Amino acid sequence: MQTLRYSYNAVVVGSNGGIGGALFNALKIDARCNVVQGVDRITFPQFELANENSIVNVAEDLRARVECIDLLIVATGILSLSGSRPEKSLSALDGESMAQIFRVNAIGPALLLKHFSPLIRKQSKAVVAVLSARVGSISDNRLGGWISYRASKAALNQIVKTASIELARSRPESVCVALHPGTVDTRLSRPFTSHRIKLEPAAAATTLLNVIDHMTAAQTGTFLDYEGHSVGW
Ligand SMILES: NC(=O)c1ccc[n+]([C@@H]2O[C@H](COP(=O)([O-])OP(=O)(O)OC[C@H]3O[C@@H](n4cnc5c(N)ncnc54)[C@H](OP(=O)(O)O)[C@@H]3O)[C@@H](O)[C@H]2O)c1
Repeated sequence: MQTLRYSYNAVVVGSNGGIGGALFNALKIDARCNVVQGVDRITFPQFELANENSIVNVAEDLRARVECIDLLIVATGILSLSGSRPEKSLSALDGESMAQIFRVNAIGPALLLKHFSPLIRKQSKAVVAVLSARVGSISDNRLGGWISYRASKAALNQIVKTASIELARSRPESVCVALHPGTVDTRLSRPFTSHRIKLEPAAAATTLLNVIDHMTAAQTGTFLDYEGHSVGW
């Protein structure tokens, strides 16, 4: 099967997740993908986004497996800590929980970019796609609530934008973007989206890969949805 226009050495971080798993499976059966490496807490039992040393170890391991990466997808994230629900109001905020959500959703991906970016191909198109969420958009916030998730995704967006500028200096063909995957039926969304139309993970993966495959360096540093439309910061 061949669906992609470009050929990639692909790494999917969060390859055991709902969307990450579907992306990983789609890439594995695509004839244009040379190498498809999953990074998750099953393949790398010590991997933990809240622990920089574990990220360093995974990056070193990858260096031995993959000559260079031309598609890095970060598909990790949490909506709330296990056993608790996202806050509906300021009164529900808990500083420690909020800090942990920032560690997983914003600081962890920033450290991933720190240690994985030396592996990104320099000479031709290379994509870094980080799954964010439309609710991280400040300009689109009309409902309030989910404060830690929204704020951690807004921070993530700033990290992606900043990384895109730095990457472009050494990799002029690179495309580093934040992507909103749509509302997708996964472990993360299921308890909160019973009445909303949800995409199946495989369908979400197909649309996201189509967007990724058609992106050009002119789009680096943007926030796009699963149809390739721009999302306001
Ligand atoms: N589903 C939606 O409707 C939706 C909408 C907008 C945005 N998103 C975004 O899409 C991304 C993927 O979400 P999903 O729906 O696929 O969720 P998911 O099925 O819950 O997958 C989340 C992934 O993140 C990993 N992860 C969580 N905490 C981690 C940690 N501390 N260290 C290492 N890995 C960790 C999980 O690994 P473990 O299994 O080991 O915990 C899993 O691989 C997230 O960034 C989410 O915010 C999803």
